[in-house]
Parts: sequence; structure tokens; C-alpha cells
Amino acid sequence: MKIAYTHELPPNKKADALVIGVYEGMKNLTKEEALQLKNLNFSGKVREVVTLPGTENFKTLIYVGLGKKSELKSDTVRLAAAKGVKSAKKVKAKKVVFELFGMDKLKEKAAKAVAEGIVLGNYQFKKYKSGKEEKFEIEKITVAGEKEYRKEFETGYILAEAANFTRDIVNEPGNVVTPEKLAEIAEEISEEYSFKCKVFKEKDLEKNQMVGILTVGRGSKNPPRFIHITYKPKNPKKRIVLVGKGVTFDSGGLNIKPEQFMKTMKSDKAGACAVLGIMKAIGQLKPDVEVHALIPTVENMPDGKAYRPDDIIVYKNGKSVEIHSTDAEGRLILADALIYGSELEPDVMIDMATLTGACVVALGHYTSGLFTEDDKLATALLKLSSETGEKMWRMPLDEDLKEDIKGTYSDLQNVGKTRYGGAITAALFLRNFVDSKKVKSWAHIDIAGPAFLDKEWKYYSAGASGQPVRTIVEFIVES
Ligand code: BES
Ligand code: ZN
Ligand code: ZN
Repeated sequence: MKIAYTHELPPNKKADALVIGVYEGMKNLTKEEALQLKNLNFSGKVREVVTLPGTENFKTLIYVGLGKKSELKSDTVRLAAAKGVKSAKKVKAKKVVFELFGMDKLKEKAAKAVAEGIVLGNYQFKKYKSGKEEKFEIEKITVAGEKEYRKEFETGYILAEAANFTRDIVNEPGNVVTPEKLAEIAEEISEEYSFKCKVFKEKDLEKNQMVGILTVGRGSKNPPRFIHITYKPKNPKKRIVLVGKGVTFDSGGLNIKPEQFMKTMKSDKAGACAVLGIMKAIGQLKPDVEVHALIPTVENMPDGKAYRPDDIIVYKNGKSVEIHSTDAEGRLILADALIYGSELEPDVMIDMATLTGACVVALGHYTSGLFTEDDKLATALLKLSSETGEKMWRMPLDEDLKEDIKGTYSDLQNVGKTRYGGAITAALFLRNFVDSKKVKSWAHIDIAGPAFLDKEWKYYSAGASGQPVRTIVEFIVES
């Protein structure tokens, strides 16, 4: 799908469909139009959509509710734009025009949100579908808006495309995207945007004492990898390290998962894929910030060579860990990356991971858990998150729970002594591998809930959501 921006207002080109944003009260419509819509029970409320036969220029007219003008938010614009795309697809419109999507109120923010809503709302993972019906795609969408908002419109497009890139990789199953494949994808985008890219194979992993990755990866025929991508502009203002959990399939290992929990565990690489999506956007937006992307990636499988409960491993930073469950593998591989990331002495280090089911129990499917001791960083991320619609909620790094992950025979154990506060004990575990002398500020984002949706939500179809790509890119660009 091509997408274009025009400042011809109103856009009077010909198209198969015209999508019109309508506030409650319908003041932007003619009396006859408003009356006709009222008779169809449409009043401009959020989530309302009506499709009507159009005129000669526009074969179909699609009206989408924006709600009360006084309450308009970016996320409402995204949702409305996505509803418009979906309706246009339903009538098989090839050329579509969008107008009046909140720019009179939210200005450039609406221009960005409408691009995001269109691109995110248009996304479906249908690569493996062979039916012709399902393959239909809109050819071109033109959005009408003021000239001075063009830049933000384009940024929105880049952000949403980056999120969709992430969704595409997350949605690929474990037989297609293995750790080696993830490394290949990293090399491809590095080539495209002239990033430096290092991929650590077994020997390099050993040389760097990456015991977590080597241990968890041992049970799979698909060998583990560690990926390091660097984006270094001329005069960087800051250095940011990103870390993403890349478990290409989490069977649980010897502590094998029951079937209802194993299915969808292809999504356990969502943190890694988010980091790749973020780098894609960074390659296009080129901020004055040095960015390092670190991805530990393994497949967690049971096997004769697999690691076992009771095993003890000693990390490069000297901390020893005894394994209580092979299903708490994410924190084990992230530990290597956090040690490595600390050596880069960043201003900010942010890791993102589908880390715990406990986080989903705590916050539900639609909100990520944000852990950080830095109030300023928390405030910045939460503010951006409420703007992007990628919901986050701050969680405590409760010192009193430290006792829960103290090991019997070693410094730490990889699972809490009780299951209570499981998202917090996981975050506390990670903190042991962040060198506070070298890292100014660290945040951990548990994306186990929102990274992969079991049903359609807002502008997202079921499956990978691409969270928290847009929030983190905005954060880097603002840094
Ligand atoms: N990948 C899972 C966490 C997860 C659960 C992600 C649900 C997405 C949706 C992780 O590796 C895991 O299995 N965690 C265990 C930890 C437990 C053994 C302490 C869990 O959450 O049950
Ligand atoms: Zn697991
Ligand atoms: Zn996992």
C-alpha cells in the first residue's frame, strides 16, 4: 500500500472511497448528510462507522466517529483511521482518500496519528494464506491535511512501518525464525542503514563468557546467537543501549510448558523484534544519539543436552545462579546482555522482554510493566506511552522481595521462592547484572501482555502488536 499526503483541501480527486472523520454533533457535515447519518444511528461517537454509496468522484463514503472534539486524543485518531482503512478494505476500494482527521484540534499530532492509525490498522499477517480473497490490498491512500504537518505525518508513517516490521517477525513461527534467522535479519537492516553489526556464534559466546545464552541454548538443534548492532552519528548527545529478549520458541525446556501455555510461545522473541523495529526507524530518522541494540537469542527446548533444574552457572560479573526452573530462561539470557551493555557505559539502558506470566496476571493483556529506579526516566516513558497508546504502568523494584531470589547454594536462583510478585522478582534478578557504576539509568519493560494479542484490540489485529516500538523510538528521538 502506498500512502501520500496532500494539502489540497478539500481533496477533490477521484477515488474509490472517501473516509471522513466526524465529531459528535457532526458540524462539519451538511444538514442533509447529518440527518441521513442520524437515521442510521450514527452520531460521531468513537468507534462508530457508516459506509454509504457515494458520488461520481468517490464511489463510497465512509464516515468514522471521532467523539467529542473537546476530548479528542491521538489514540482516538489512530483508532478512527484504522476503522476507516478496515471499512475501505471491506468494500475493496483500491484508491482511498482520508480527510478531516482531527488536525483542526491536535494539529501535527493528529497528522502523525492518522498515518499511524492507517498503517497499523491496515496490517494483517497473511503471508501464508493462499486464497485470493484474503490477498486484497488497498493500492493507495491519500491523506488531506495542512502543509506544515507533513513532516509529522511522515514520522508517523515511519514509526508505524517500524512497528509492522516488528509484527512481521514476531508472527513468523519458530520453524522459520530461529536465532540464526534473527541474526540474518539484523545483518540485513544493518546493511540497509549502514549500521555496524556483530553476530556472536558459539566460539564468541564462550570467549565473552555468555553463560546464560550458552546454557539455555544447549537444548536446541538451532544454535544460539548474540547480536550487537551499533548506530553512531557524528556528534552524539547521548548513548542508549537497548536489549531485547529473543527466545524464538519457549517450550519451557525440561520444565516443559502445558499445551495451553506453550502455544503462542513463538512470540517470546517479541522484545528482540521490537529492538530490530526500533533500529529500522532509527536508521530513517537519524537522531543525534548513539544507539546500541543487543539481542541474546536462543530456542528453549528439552533435550539430552538441555540444561536442568539444580544446574549452577557463574556469570562474567561473578554472580552465581542456580536453576530452579528451565522455564525462567529469559532472565538468564538477558543477564549476559546486561553485563555486556554495562561495559558500553550508556546514559540509558532499556531492556524489553516477554518475561513473565505474572506481569500479565498483574496488569492484564493490554499494559506493559515498567521497572526503573530513575523517576525522571519513568516520567518520560510514561508520558510518551500515554501519547502513543502503548500502555505502560510503573511497577516497584521492591527491596523486600530480594530475599525471594536468594539462592540456596549460590548467590541467586532464577525463580522466586513463591509465585507472588513474579514480575518484580524477575526485574530484581535482572538488576544484579546492571553495573550501576557504568550505567547511569536503567529500565526494564515486561511486555508479556501486550506484545502478542489473542484477539483484535484497538487498531491491532490479533497476534503481534509491535509494542513498544513507537514509544521507544520517540524516547530516543527526544533524548
Ligand atoms: N516466556 C515466558 C513468559 C510469558 C508468559 C510470556 C506468557 C508471554 C506470555 C517466560 O519465559 C516464562 O515461562 N516465565 C515463567 C516464569 C516462572 C517459571 C517463574 C512464567 O511466567 O510462568
Ligand atoms: Zn519460559
Ligand atoms: Zn520465555
